[in-house]
Amino acid sequence: MPIEVESPEQLGYDTITNNLSESSVADRCLADLGIDFGSDRGGAALDDLLLCYGDHLGDPVLREAVAAGGAGLTADDVIVTPGAAAALFATATSLLEPGDHAVVVRTNYATNLETPRAIGAELDIVDLRFDDNWQLDTAHIAALVRTGATRLISVTCPHNPTGTMLDLASLHALVELAERSGAVLLVDETYRDLTHASALPMAAMLSPRAISVSSMSKAYGLPGLRVGWAVCRDPQLAETLLAAKEQIVICGATIDEAIAGRVLADRARNLPPILDDVRARLDVVREWMRGQRTFEWIEPGGGVVGLVRFVADKAVDTARFYEVLLADYGTYVGPGHWFEVDDRHFRLGFGWPTESELRAGLAALSAAAADAMT
Ligand SMILES: Cc1ncc(COP(=O)(O)O)c(C=O)c1O
Repeated sequence: MPIEVESPEQLGYDTITNNLSESSVADRCLADLGIDFGSDRGGAALDDLLLCYGDHLGDPVLREAVAAGGAGLTADDVIVTPGAAAALFATATSLLEPGDHAVVVRTNYATNLETPRAIGAELDIVDLRFDDNWQLDTAHIAALVRTGATRLISVTCPHNPTGTMLDLASLHALVELAERSGAVLLVDETYRDLTHASALPMAAMLSPRAISVSSMSKAYGLPGLRVGWAVCRDPQLAETLLAAKEQIVICGATIDEAIAGRVLADRARNLPPILDDVRARLDVVREWMRGQRTFEWIEPGGGVVGLVRFVADKAVDTARFYEVLLADYGTYVGPGHWFEVDDRHFRLGFGWPTESELRAGLAALSAAAADAMT
């Protein structure tokens, strides 16, 4: 698997002025959270927290908070992992053997493609298309699924990098397909709490054949906690995931999970201002999009990213575009090759930079494009 040398943290945050390559809201420090971590937490303030091996499933307060996000779920349905990334890795590695059949959507967050590939699974990759508004065709997926043989159907919603959503009927169709075929439906819901209208149910609420994955990284601006989770109502499947987790890390970081539990339990207070901010930023991008004719996108329905592309009649030297964008304008976006599409596409992240950095970055995109036209 390629390592992420082009990620902004590896490139160096100090080399970028307008960072429009991120897929989360702005990173936060503990003081930003408005939580008194010195106060009593079910009997133990954070200072007094015993840094023991914790519950292998994860901090019970955190698991309760995750389960509270979906009707009919209990804390026992939740397995905490080091980020959504580890939940996705544990799911793929525990369900797939070399040669096993899986259906995976592309574009996608890289792990969802790379791990099944590294295992040597037989993949049917379903490419999303701009001309379909990046919408998933569930009938196409159904045509690829082999009853009794397909082990995994893997989708992401809200989607990275397009920010588009499944509709409720499509989610139900995928659940029904998994139940009918014997496959497991993995829904990467890492951006679910950043849905701009109303969120879909967690897939795990709808069926024991579904695994929902999410984390504290994107909506809460806490990727450095490395706390995510898988939700699964099938006891056998959940035990398999726990066994995979135990082989990787035994249990999670006690202190990270304690902090995450406090934040998530308090989401009714801390999430609404984040969502208001995200919607206001989307307005900024929408307004910029309307005022130019070089780029186009399908407006995202969730998350803080969208996949932008040069309109077809613009001839552009893409290598020069990205070079000028960073070197002359200090602006960084996620080029298409991060997502296995051509570099006429790029992922635009509007939730992480300050509003003035976002505005400067958008202006820089127009200026760099003008420079790179051939
Ligand atoms: C769709 C999706 N899933 C999972 C992850 C992994 O996030 P984390 O491990 O920080 O929770 C990302 C990160 O970019 C993502 O975009």
